[in-house]
Amino acid sequence: MDFKLTEEHLMIRDAARDFAKTELLPGVIERDEKQEFPKELIKKMGDLGFLGMMASPEYGGGGMDTISYVLAMEELSKIDASASVMVSVNNSLVCWGLDTFGNEEQKKKYLSKLTTGEKLGAFCLSEPEAGSDATSQRTTAIDKGDHYILNGTKNWITNGSSGDYFLVIAQTDKEKKHKGINAFIVEKGWEGFEIGPKEQKLGIRGSDTHSLNFNDVKVPKENRIGEDGFGFKFAMKTLSGGRIGIAAQALGIAAGAYELAKDYSKQRKAFGTEICNHQAIAFKLADMHTQITAARHLVMKAAWDKDQGENYDLSGAMAKLHASKTAMDVTIEAVQVHGGNGYVKEYHVERLMRDAKITQIYEGTSEIQKIVISRSILKD
Ligand code: CAA
Repeated sequence: MDFKLTEEHLMIRDAARDFAKTELLPGVIERDEKQEFPKELIKKMGDLGFLGMMASPEYGGGGMDTISYVLAMEELSKIDASASVMVSVNNSLVCWGLDTFGNEEQKKKYLSKLTTGEKLGAFCLSEPEAGSDATSQRTTAIDKGDHYILNGTKNWITNGSSGDYFLVIAQTDKEKKHKGINAFIVEKGWEGFEIGPKEQKLGIRGSDTHSLNFNDVKVPKENRIGEDGFGFKFAMKTLSGGRIGIAAQALGIAAGAYELAKDYSKQRKAFGTEICNHQAIAFKLADMHTQITAARHLVMKAAWDKDQGENYDLSGAMAKLHASKTAMDVTIEAVQVHGGNGYVKEYHVERLMRDAKITQIYEGTSEIQKIVISRSILKD
């Protein structure tokens, strides 16, 4: 067993760390306040290769392993979880889904633009009545020969307005239940495709989240991903990998808050000494560090499983479950270590605490992770 990262991994981690400090940190409070994320910054992430890290090089991707990806995700998330969720959705859900299950034409036409940041992707599964219960899709796609007619509403879609290409999951045959579900590539601007108002969120406010309406949208048959009826498996397989990315995001949020709390505790004085010299604070830091280290091991193991071609449903779900709880626990404690300063924006920890919560909700709530874990451990 070797816990050491390679030189290449360290280079990728350092490049992400550097980018986060120089490019993401300066405007992060303002982006959170205004709920916006400039297009130029998305472009910069694309230019540096953060948007298509694992995708095949022949379609503009970085051809990197999942370990590299989670290292980058952790670093970006320490500073700006809004940026990292855009990176995560584009990499793990959209690019990986297309690279793995798309056909040659789809990859040439769509993937090659998504890997470079020229276009941004979104993944559309959730509906007003199908969040956790993903088989209960109400969005329909009716087969009309050479095309489908898409109708329905999708909710809480990350990159809802900044996205260009949308992977939309829809029911094509209700009788067949989850075997009658398909996934389609839909382009922004197609007739009948409407973007709803931006959601006003607690956290990850820089990233845009919208509901989307599809009113008789004509989707060419060549935009269906995989064989007829493959859509639910497509969504599940894609989300399994996505959960590793979100686990890395949660890890980054926790690690970012911990580093801020540690630094603060070494500077802030109370009762005649730096507060880190009080056990009340030192023990909090010890707990944070231990929880984060455990989360990092789980994230790395899940990424390693994926890179080795092992099944990663269980390890990915455990990583997400634990890392997202760690993100909540650690950010709350980081605010506490900062005292009154923790409650004001310029110290960053209150934002990280708000950002942490979504990691227990999206790409499967903590309860969904427990379903995946318990089914896996009980099956044999
Ligand atoms: N890989 C491959 N196939 C899988 C799979 C996986 N990981 N998980 C399930 N399947 C298959 C099953 O094998 C089964 O197929 P067969 O009938 O051929 O055997 C089929 O899918 C149905 O499986 P289940 O009976 O287990 O389905 P279920 O209804 O009990 O649901 C669930 C399983 C795990 C609860 C699933 O519904 C789920 O993951 N729900 C959460 C959805 C989710 O994560 N939503 C997040 C939205 S995306 C998002 O948040 C993105 C963003 O913007 C950031």
